[in-house]
Amino acid sequence: MAQSQVNQGENITSLSASLKTNHATQELLERDAKVYYHQTLSTPVFNAIQQVDGAYIVDGQGEKHLDLHGNGVHTIGYNNPKVLQAIQDAISNKLTFAPRRFTNEPAVALAEKLTSMAPKGLNRVLFCPGGSEAVEMATMLAKHHTGKWKTLSYYGTFHGAGFQSISIGADGHFREGLGPMMPGAIHLELPDYYRNPWGWTNQEAIDNEYIRQFELQVLNNPDIAALISEPIFYNSTVPTKYYWERIQEICREHGILLIFDEIYTAFGRTGKFFASEHFVTPDILVVGKGFGGGVLPYAGIIGKEELNTLHHRSIGHYTHEKNPLCAAVGKAVIDYVEEESLVSKTAELGLYMKAQLEEMQNEFQLIGNIEGLGLNIGVDLVKNRNTKERAKEEATELMKYCLSKNVSFKLIQGNILNLKPSLVITKNEIDYVLTTIRNGLSEITTKFN
Ligand SMILES: Cc1ncc(COP(=O)(O)O)c(C=O)c1O
Repeated sequence: MAQSQVNQGENITSLSASLKTNHATQELLERDAKVYYHQTLSTPVFNAIQQVDGAYIVDGQGEKHLDLHGNGVHTIGYNNPKVLQAIQDAISNKLTFAPRRFTNEPAVALAEKLTSMAPKGLNRVLFCPGGSEAVEMATMLAKHHTGKWKTLSYYGTFHGAGFQSISIGADGHFREGLGPMMPGAIHLELPDYYRNPWGWTNQEAIDNEYIRQFELQVLNNPDIAALISEPIFYNSTVPTKYYWERIQEICREHGILLIFDEIYTAFGRTGKFFASEHFVTPDILVVGKGFGGGVLPYAGIIGKEELNTLHHRSIGHYTHEKNPLCAAVGKAVIDYVEEESLVSKTAELGLYMKAQLEEMQNEFQLIGNIEGLGLNIGVDLVKNRNTKERAKEEATELMKYCLSKNVSFKLIQGNILNLKPSLVITKNEIDYVLTTIRNGLSEITTKFN
């Protein structure tokens, strides 16, 4: 099975031990530990937050850190003025909730705006509180529409914490101990150009092998309703256009719907408004995270007109499905991305950041591989470029170093620097991140040699 994307528990524990927190923060951490259920990845917490602001978080000691993680909600920056204004307007207009079967102007305006921005042919929506629920809605829509009940997705991925979503995600970490998962959830190996099991480097050969594995499952499982995947994977691996085109062709031949989970990648992150635009238009596209402007939870699906066939069923019976406050925020997010030309800015900054990291790769043997598009970059640290052994200790040291210099990011699979800043980050701030990583790499190279 492919590695979990989240196996960074050991990093967090060691990070926590190395951080200097003040008395007030320590007290808060202790109160937190006494009252919250402990769960790995969330506890132990290693610091507190006092404020969030633009591309930054302010920790318990008042230190400002550039946030290159943000759980993915910080797309247009924390406390974005347009988002705050939308919230204030909704409150002054006393339009903060809509019970079911009552529509409202912000909910319809959001749906119209979102479908106008979506790839051609995606013109119907449903909204819900969180990403996991949105993945559930997409999956149920595909099952009802096709009359089939199996799903295909990739090992080690994450599509949300709900039961159907963890079944689709197939990360052992979330599933173990729960007994049988959703029936019919079939998994494939996640395409990997850098560390594929055959040691190949030829992209087309690698694509063809993964496509062969996909086709094998399709031929042996006539009941597959949908393939669910992020268009660009969580570790920033960018599949080829050929890969997605061929997968979509096979899906169409077999009546399988293609669902792209764009909960992380939508709204400009990859240098296109939707990451799908780099590849193919899916049948259903899922959004979330940044959709709530970094303030509210909100998510949804955007799909094809021909899927509007469920008049006798409910797949999105959520209390907040047409919440006008959330809808006003969602629209403010899209308007802000458009008005500030964040898509083209992100494409440019992403190219710049990647080029600078590639220069560092010439300098530091530790950098084995760099993946990504836009401000969605993965830097894979290795102990040895031939064996590609994951440099986990070095990556943890680098993460600690960067945090001490006020740059915060998370690691994926213990060794991949996951660099996903807010799209409002400036070029100067990117330069600061790059300089910090370079200085950290120099220190670590000396220390580990
Ligand atoms: C790709 C992807 N899909 C789905 C989800 C689940 O979203 P939520 O936490 O809003 O349920 C996440 C959250 O991390 C995600 O990264």
